[in-house]
Amino acid sequence: NEGAHIEKLDWSFNGAFGTFDRAALQRGYQVYKEVCASCHSMKYLSYRNLQDIGFSEAEVKALAAQYEVPALDEAGDPTTVKAKPSDRFHSPFPNEVAARAANGGALPPDLSLIAKARVGGPDYIHALLNGYHETPAGFALPDGKSYNTVFPGNAIGMPKPLSDDQVTYADGTKATVEQMSRDVATFLMWAAEPKLEDRKRAGVKVMGFLGLLTIFTFLTYRKVRRKVQ
Ligand code: HEM
Repeated sequence: NEGAHIEKLDWSFNGAFGTFDRAALQRGYQVYKEVCASCHSMKYLSYRNLQDIGFSEAEVKALAAQYEVPALDEAGDPTTVKAKPSDRFHSPFPNEVAARAANGGALPPDLSLIAKARVGGPDYIHALLNGYHETPAGFALPDGKSYNTVFPGNAIGMPKPLSDDQVTYADGTKATVEQMSRDVATFLMWAAEPKLEDRKRAGVKVMGFLGLLTIFTFLTYRKVRRKVQ
């Protein structure tokens, strides 16, 4: 990854008091669902997890019902039924062979934990999605690959997935590549660390407790010393 510049963005979930921006998470899910999900699975997520990012129970039920899962009919023969909120996210390919066959040999990784699996996390994902540029003269780009300044080796098996207005956001936000890549990186960060907010809140409480304990310990120490002298 020599020389690739990965910009460090000012995410709302950074820092000791970090929280996820619910609107960005919902927009990010829309980008995943309408764009990335045609190649990338997120097999560790269930539809009901989307209630954590502000979708109602009824909305989650309706989202799940857009997909089919295998089941058995009354005679015991295989059939499909509508997915339930407890079902895992629908995967685009049945297995790795099919996934590679559809992607010129490259494997689109499962995105459930990708924000934790790649150095730079959400900054890397944002940079990668914005890293498609014209192939420089003299660069031997293999067939079926795209030139990307951020991807190690600069030849990636993922065609540029985002272009302006690829999705239409329900909240009216303008869907630029920059906006969509921030939103989807936020969503992928939440997917990889859904308890981030709880963890940070616990950290702040622990630090507050330790601070008070330090003050009281010091006051006790002074009181005790006074008696001794
Ligand atoms: C790889 C994200 C859409 C096909 C990746 C990687 C990420 C990613 C983070 C891993 C890069 C690495 O290994 O460092 C996304 C996001 C998408 C999206 C957020 C939606 C905005 C797509 C689509 C396709 C696709 C629509 C298929 C047409 C692939 C493939 C790879 C890949 C084949 C493996 C590339 C290689 O190893 O050369 N993607 N992707 N992706 N993606 Fe996507």
